[in-house]
Amino acid sequence: MSDRSLPNLTVLHHPLIQHKLTLLRDRTTGTRDFKLLVSEIAMLMAYEVTKDLPTEAVEIETPLERMTGRLVSDKKLTLVPILRAGLGMVDGVSQLLPTARVGHIGLSRDESSLEPMRYYAKLPGEEQDRDYFVLDPMLATGGSATAAVTTLKAAGARRVRFLCIVAAPAGVRRMLEGHPDVPVFAAALDRELDGRGFILPGLGDAGDRLFGTR
Ligand code: PRP
Repeated sequence: MSDRSLPNLTVLHHPLIQHKLTLLRDRTTGTRDFKLLVSEIAMLMAYEVTKDLPTEAVEIETPLERMTGRLVSDKKLTLVPILRAGLGMVDGVSQLLPTARVGHIGLSRDESSLEPMRYYAKLPGEEQDRDYFVLDPMLATGGSATAAVTTLKAAGARRVRFLCIVAAPAGVRRMLEGHPDVPVFAAALDRELDGRGFILPGLGDAGDRLFGTR
């Protein structure tokens, strides 16, 4: 489903995603289940987000005869979690894309300015030939997401998609302004940000809930 004012956004309304998202948002969900749910939602999202990946014909032999099947083209798929919270989505997506490489970008949001500060970046190389899936459960002001994509593009990346679980309208708009070529996929578009840059109704601080910190 899409919103006309946010043409870069696709919200994935699959019943299983919505069910797991509701459990994820619930404040009584503990660290163990939170981690599991983030991973499961990421896997279900990956199914939808990869539906336009190109495939190519391959000849195989079944036990009975030869046939032409199709395999996903060897496009050098690459996952890029934004540290820390994006790490929670890697396993789920990797279950569907087991050969994908994983790059990492470390960004931390300054609590007063809400602007991201980069503290780490390690990418696999040959960036121009790869398809990137940037992972972060939260798209709040959009500062982290736009900075991560800017880092990827500076390294040569040309095809990037952004996957988050919960998005705020401000973050989706900032991505549209900064990187209109990057499609944003979310399990939900939430109402707004509060004064501290938290998404409402949201799910709290994904990094803290994933790793049991506060
Ligand atoms: C949170 C979240 C996103 C970012 C979203 O990370 O995981 O990366 O904030 O906010 P933005 O859209 O306004 O940039 P945080 O900086 O708290 O770091 P953490 O993942 O290490 O907890």
